[in-house]
Amino acid sequence: MHQLLEKELSTFESRTPGSHAALKKAQPRLPLGVASNFRSYEPWPLFVKDAKGSHIHDLDGNEYIDFNLCFGALMAGHCHPAVMAAVQERLEIGTMFGMPHTLEYELAEEICQRFPVEQVRFGSSGTEVTMHAIRLARGFTDRDKIIKMEGGYHGVHDSVMVSMKPKLDLCGDPDRPNQVPAGAGVPADTVKNTLIAQFNDLAAVKRLFAENPKQIAAIIVEPIMMNIGICMPEPGYLEGLREICTKEGALLIFDEVKTGAKLGRGGACEYFNIKADLVTLAKSIGGGFPLAAFATSREVMDMIAQQKVFHAGTYATNPLVMAAGIATFREVLTPEGYAHIEKIGDVLVEGYKQIVKKNGIEGYVESAGSNGALLFYAKKIRNYREWLAVDTDLWRLYWFGMLNRGVMPQPYWWDEQWTLSVAHSMADIDRHLSAFEEVAPAIAQAQQESSVQVVG
Ligand SMILES: Cc1ncc(COP(=O)(O)O)c(C=O)c1O
Repeated sequence: MHQLLEKELSTFESRTPGSHAALKKAQPRLPLGVASNFRSYEPWPLFVKDAKGSHIHDLDGNEYIDFNLCFGALMAGHCHPAVMAAVQERLEIGTMFGMPHTLEYELAEEICQRFPVEQVRFGSSGTEVTMHAIRLARGFTDRDKIIKMEGGYHGVHDSVMVSMKPKLDLCGDPDRPNQVPAGAGVPADTVKNTLIAQFNDLAAVKRLFAENPKQIAAIIVEPIMMNIGICMPEPGYLEGLREICTKEGALLIFDEVKTGAKLGRGGACEYFNIKADLVTLAKSIGGGFPLAAFATSREVMDMIAQQKVFHAGTYATNPLVMAAGIATFREVLTPEGYAHIEKIGDVLVEGYKQIVKKNGIEGYVESAGSNGALLFYAKKIRNYREWLAVDTDLWRLYWFGMLNRGVMPQPYWWDEQWTLSVAHSMADIDRHLSAFEEVAPAIAQAQQESSVQVVG
């Protein structure tokens, strides 16, 4: 490990003993001491005390400007006043009914106004809605197989837990990637039905359709891969997927759990001007509450209306979450909200680019909507295998270095990206850039020394 990273880690350790103690208490009762595997990292994860707006505090009282925002679920920022007020109001008049109520069609209407869809069903997590979307596509086409992209993340149900983040030596032929189960417990029979292609490789998708005639129900894809940093679709790629699906009678599922709210009012469908057949939404549409949705045409949803495909959920459309969702759509995901984020985002991205250049860091900044990331690669990545080449110690030097200077630049993990919220101010952006200015020379030095080591 590079001594510059060791120094940042030791600063982190001395600043965060409370988190270390909390982890030790949690470990006997929670595997890894956390409630979701992504929350576990070395030497220990930060435990949170509280958060408001763009700021978050850990148990030791350290303050951070938060660009993690719950893995991108908080374009509203923490405790957005309009969302809080809407939820407070509902708290007094019933939190769960398991019966229809009027907020459901109000929120469904908001979604149909923005996305190329006619009907909506709701859930509580991204996992839940990608699962229902895939089942619906299978029911509608009467086919079992799906295509997903290597390295793509769509939650933790069996059908998508294939080639999630496979080790390179298991990936196989780049033109015909292996179907690698993401851990034990995923049935082999399920794995067989999830075919894999590399992102940005239309030829591979065509080949899969040719080799599996009339057997593929859907392609599920994140229009911008946001679980390998930020990996943009090449010009023509999404259009190509659209064309293939139409020709082959399969459905195109845009997993917009991350992109849905954060690229703009109409998500990736609008951003790229592509009409997906099914759209899945979660994270930032809920304004800090567990709201998710899958949406499509009336024709496809008729499978549910006719009781041919089953969908249900006790927690679906609970009024607290629906109130939060409606407030988020009407008060956060507004033209003014997006304009604010674009303004501060431009300054952040431009600032990063200048600092990267000034310090001679080998890397680039990618951004889309309220998301951005610093990627340590010589040229733009096109797919998962290229993303795998990242120097993780260098990335950790960046992340802990920023954290020690009061900025959480993105979630922990080099496959993530920052999120800007309506709560971030220009002063927050200035502080972010000042912290990066301080950390950048160390990154450049570590990068140079490690490349010298490799050459030597
Ligand atoms: C693109 C995408 N789809 C689905 C999911 C799963 O969402 P959840 O964690 O709410 O189950 C995620 C979560 O990060 C995601 O990024």
